[in-house]
Amino acid sequence: MRHATIELLQAAYGRYALGAFNVSSMEQVHGLFRGAAQARAPIIVQFTRVMRNYAHPRMLEALLRGAEEIYPAVVFAVHHDHGDEASCAEAMASGHYNSVMIDASHQPFAENVATTRRVVEQAHARGLAVEAELGLLQGIEDEMSVDAQEAILTDPAQAEEFVRRTGCDSLAVAIGTSHGAYKFSGQQGLHFDRLAEIQTRLPGFPLVLHGGSAVPVREVERINAAGGQLDPSACGVAESELPRAIASGITKVNIGTDGRLIWTRVHREFFQQSPREFDFMQPGKTYVEEFAAFVAAKCATLGAVGKAAGAASPVAAEVKSD
Ligand code: 13P
Repeated sequence: MRHATIELLQAAYGRYALGAFNVSSMEQVHGLFRGAAQARAPIIVQFTRVMRNYAHPRMLEALLRGAEEIYPAVVFAVHHDHGDEASCAEAMASGHYNSVMIDASHQPFAENVATTRRVVEQAHARGLAVEAELGLLQGIEDEMSVDAQEAILTDPAQAEEFVRRTGCDSLAVAIGTSHGAYKFSGQQGLHFDRLAEIQTRLPGFPLVLHGGSAVPVREVERINAAGGQLDPSACGVAESELPRAIASGITKVNIGTDGRLIWTRVHREFFQQSPREFDFMQPGKTYVEEFAAFVAAKCATLGAVGKAAGAASPVAAEVKSD
């Protein structure tokens, strides 16, 4: 069942967070919906501009129509992640999205406001929600000066002004995370003081955590043991930090990297252990199962288990390998 993104965000605020999963393949869509069905948790399905170009927008829409039919109990919204003005306009016009993210955070403040405002006007005319971004998702290094850290993190006063002037529905804030496997160095973690200041300025307003992958050490170790060469110091957002972030207004947590790490581990291990095999369906089946388990566990960490309104008796469809 598709829902309006804004309704899911409002229902979650301060109580739990929505896992917003970046997916682009049939196996990922199956795993995502199966995991959400198991957890009876509402989810956000996210497609970036890059993913839309990779798979083709029509293919992704067809996958979602299939998932909706196969997993009817799953409560979800569809979101265009990291769009520019053109891709947001295209996604909105397609009629397949419940919300878009306009990422104009690289622009100076006034231009970010103007660009975001234009997208908000178009979106609200269609009844769709807009996520915007303020601050830089760059990651903070221990050795950075305080001034350099300040320049990256979202400024709370600016955030208040930005939301008032743009009318956006949710805001991605920079509180120390970055995208990818290498988020933190040394003692860095989420900047809770900054988050608390933003929440004080924007009470009840949904905040979004980008770069939400945990990058589990064990996953990186297994990938490297099976021939990978990832930096063993790679680390992400500690799951223990998420409940505090949720209490401080984080209502949506974006996750892409963790799903890719599981894909890499499953396929590396499979082909290392079975060098004579060349059947994509065998590791594919394992990946669907593992990704589903990951999604269900992540929804539990986010406090979202059982929060899918109306998910009375979800039925998880089987992926047949023959
Ligand atoms: P990760 O790289 O931590 O998975 O973040 C994904 C993300 O924020 C997509 O917008």
